[in-house]
Amino acid sequence: MGHRSDLTRAARLSVAPMMDWTDRHCRYMHRLFSKQTLLYTEMVTSPALVRGGALHLLDHDTSEHPVALQLGGSDPDELAEAARIGAQAGYDEINLNVGCPSDRVQSGCFGAVLMEQPALVAKSVAAMRRAVDVDVTVKCRIGVDDQNPAEVLPEFLAQIVGAGCERVTIHARKAWLQGLSPKENRDIPPLDYELVHRMKGLFPNLHISINGGITSLDQAEAFLDAGLDGVMIGRSAYHNPTDILAQADRRIYGTGADTTPEDVVAQMLPYIDAHIDGGGKLNQITRHMMGLFAGRTGARVWRRTLSEQASRPGADRQVLLEALDAMQTLAEAQEAV
Ligand SMILES: Cc1cc2nc3c(=O)[nH]c(=O)nc-3n(C[C@H](O)[C@H](O)[C@H](O)COP(=O)(O)O)c2cc1C
Repeated sequence: MGHRSDLTRAARLSVAPMMDWTDRHCRYMHRLFSKQTLLYTEMVTSPALVRGGALHLLDHDTSEHPVALQLGGSDPDELAEAARIGAQAGYDEINLNVGCPSDRVQSGCFGAVLMEQPALVAKSVAAMRRAVDVDVTVKCRIGVDDQNPAEVLPEFLAQIVGAGCERVTIHARKAWLQGLSPKENRDIPPLDYELVHRMKGLFPNLHISINGGITSLDQAEAFLDAGLDGVMIGRSAYHNPTDILAQADRRIYGTGADTTPEDVVAQMLPYIDAHIDGGGKLNQITRHMMGLFAGRTGARVWRRTLSEQASRPGADRQVLLEALDAMQTLAEAQEAV
């Protein structure tokens, strides 16, 4: 049980599951910024896991803990089996995606469309809960299409709590299943943070994390101070990891030292060497590092050096050292002015 309470604490701040973005390299780097923030994988569908084709997606480094596996699916037995595979692979939490509106996902009846089927979600959660000892959680929206969130969300939450869901993350906007692209569905439906606060009032014992449009650690702290249990950050954590994660251990968890992007680059070098020695490409890692110096002097020369050089044949850690040098030269030139 000690394990479970650790995870509850970790969930004060989390980096959202993001397809194609929060792969193992991205998570490894985020972990260098913050020892405590809860990290999520990209969504992996339960059929892909159960049929065995996607087992490589479970690969991760032991340093990534605490780390949660996000599943997509809607067949309770299959989700239970996928959860078991995930827990066995070492994940600390299994999360069910009830928020993703993409077409591909809808066609398999995954993701946000499940907001319309709370009983099926509850059945899935219960089956996953029986299959594993680790935490089982849900990430959802406030509703879809013409649903009235103030009515459907409490009913949805009551169902998943009854099924044994340990924590929930609420992306505080609707998904529109027709007519909007997945990207538009992350920006256009209006955010309703107030409704998420009301859910905390209705479900005081449920651990609730809020998600959607949060762009600073100040904002995250304000949500925690206002009584929410956790804050999940997606795009800002990806594009600007330094601002979101470098001070997270001290400010959100009250222990640990701040980190710097320079420290993180230095610690990424041996990881990059090992990746390249194993036949990997530099760009598979550095594509997640473009935002490390966002908002700082030299950010542009950093990004340009990586984007011009990291895909070249034979590219290795030298590209990062050159990018750091170029930033340093620029900073010195600016000081001299
Ligand atoms: C590139 C990208 C991929 C995403 N993939 C997933 C996913 O696999 N599962 C999921 O639940 N949400 C996914 N999301 C949604 C995020 O988890 C998050 O809910 C959303 O971006 C809102 O948070 P933000 O405003 O902090 O980015 C994705 C978002 C982005 C930008």
